Amino acid sequence: MRERLLAAEKVKAIEWQGGQLRLLDQRKLPLEELWHTYDSAAAVATAIREMVVRGAPAIGISAAYGLAMGLRARLAEGGDWRTALESDFEMLAASRPTAVNLFWALNQMRERLDRLKPGEDPLTAAEAQAASIHASDREANLTMAQFGVDLIRKHQGNPQNLLTHCNTGALATGGFGTALGVIRGAHLEGLVECVYADETRPWLQGSRLTAWELAGEGVPVMLNADSAAAHLMKTRGITWVIVGADRITANGDVANKIGTYQLAVLAMHHGVRFMVVASSATIDMELESGDDIPIEERAGHELLEVNGQRFAADVDVFNPVFDVTPADLIDAIVTEKGIVERPNAAKLAALMSRKRLH
Ligand code: MRU
Repeated sequence: MRERLLAAEKVKAIEWQGGQLRLLDQRKLPLEELWHTYDSAAAVATAIREMVVRGAPAIGISAAYGLAMGLRARLAEGGDWRTALESDFEMLAASRPTAVNLFWALNQMRERLDRLKPGEDPLTAAEAQAASIHASDREANLTMAQFGVDLIRKHQGNPQNLLTHCNTGALATGGFGTALGVIRGAHLEGLVECVYADETRPWLQGSRLTAWELAGEGVPVMLNADSAAAHLMKTRGITWVIVGADRITANGDVANKIGTYQLAVLAMHHGVRFMVVASSATIDMELESGDDIPIEERAGHELLEVNGQRFAADVDVFNPVFDVTPADLIDAIVTEKGIVERPNAAKLAALMSRKRLH
């Protein structure tokens, strides 16, 4: 399946070229395919905050390249680059709060720079580390796709109706996607009747990004309003809800795009299986439970306006953009290290003590 996934690859959102970062502007898709080029940590931090790039793994990868570009500037300034680089670490870490991949990637960069051998060039080491974070995310995507497809097949070998939320595809990662990687793999294996894509209000990652990615690869996709999920589960024979994650805590609670929690409650009621797909970089063993996860709240205009055009009444807005699904509503967490069924603290600890499989 790995080769077939590689052969079917069409979309890329992150490129590292000549020491600069190129990002496909996800605010403009699918109407316009606009690329921007970045050459500083500050510009990358802004791109993450403003959602030019989004999706937990993709923002981690971008931050790593951003840090490498920050280092290049600090080295050119002369003086104590380690001290100067701290403000780049801080700026990038402050760009978005919920996805732990951002902090994980920055930490990988810090650890690499702390391990420099005498005489080793810090910039070469930092650029190589960022490229390795990028490459290992692609590899993890491929491994998770195989594991997720095996899990679907274990329960039912015929084509199925799947429901997904937000965008977890090539746009959100360094490669093929987490949940969408599994869905792509399932399609290649003849296991998909139809993918129902929640539109994912208010930012519309489902209707703008997931529907675009799937349709572009010939995967049968049907778009639905978020509020159609219960009706869909009751009437359309959905067998799996498959989603990604922005942070998974030590007890198996999962933060993901707002609306994921209600899907898990609905899935439990309707006897639909619930799969979370995320690499081990999304697992935060330092947080005990989902109650400890910082949940990003974004500006009210995201709910009050469409394309800058006001349509809502003039009222206060509550706009949390992630929620936490409790572990006991989750059938399986699929990672590149393996699958955890019915997650709990002991199973997560055992998983995280294993070596990476790739
Ligand atoms: O606000 P976003 O678009 O960055 O949120 C993205 C999600 O919630 C995804 O489901 C998650 O990052 C997993 S992506 C592989």
